[in-house]
Amino acid sequence: MQPPTQLLLASQLLLALLLVLLPPAAQPFCQPFCPAPNSARPAPLRSWLKTGRVPPSSPSPPSASPPPAPSFYNITLPRSPGLSWRTDLSFRYVSVSAVDPGGPAAGTRVRKGDQLAAVAGESVVGLDFDGAMQAFGRLPSDAGRMELTLFAGSKEEMLAELGEGGGEARSEYTVEVLRKGKAPLSLKAAPGANLRSLLTDNGVQVYRSVARVTNCKGKQLCGTCIVDVREGGGGTNRKSVDEESTLRTNPGSYRLSCVTFVYGDLVVETFPEVEASQWTR
Ligand code: FES
Repeated sequence: MQPPTQLLLASQLLLALLLVLLPPAAQPFCQPFCPAPNSARPAPLRSWLKTGRVPPSSPSPPSASPPPAPSFYNITLPRSPGLSWRTDLSFRYVSVSAVDPGGPAAGTRVRKGDQLAAVAGESVVGLDFDGAMQAFGRLPSDAGRMELTLFAGSKEEMLAELGEGGGEARSEYTVEVLRKGKAPLSLKAAPGANLRSLLTDNGVQVYRSVARVTNCKGKQLCGTCIVDVREGGGGTNRKSVDEESTLRTNPGSYRLSCVTFVYGDLVVETFPEVEASQWTR
């Protein structure tokens, strides 16, 4: 008769041999000590073990869409847009430091690095952080949404566009107003000033006939605040797709004054002759 220790060793050797040789399906009794089946190993590691070569890295994801050309644009966002702000090293010129991926601005054209130019028509170009944030604070307390004017591009590109050739933006622009049957009027405008507000605040009428009562008061809904920017059109923000559509049968210099912002010296004519398409957009 074998000594008990030899019998024990022989049975352990037999069990180990079975665990290695039998397929996993035939090893229900060995849990939880069964070796992991090959299919449980990560594929790249398995191929590396098989070939002895390091697996090639997975292809990099397609790159994001290219940034848009430097330009001003307007966007209406909720009062809490899900944007973080920063300034440059001089603690001025506020720009977007982050777009909350779950916030209202996610998926819009707002990108990290865009420059904040105006809040609800009030220019904040060149202001320090507190000054720009105070413009948000001056929004009506019941305003659920707000219009922001941003510049897609760097601060230098924005200043080049504002300063018509580079350098610092001016602190004030001149808007010459041409009115039929009246003497021209010269108005001073801060950079980013809303053209409709500038005109109406200085007693210049931009609405005709019954539109003086029925206009949408600057919400870009009625299409009745049309002016002709006869000179200096490059010193304004670019037209949005909606404004282009509203004015599509009119000369390119025609603007909806409620969504036009002053970034240069302008000559503006009120009550220009208009085609009818602005009523049927
Ligand atoms: S005021 Fe209505 S579109 Fe400008």
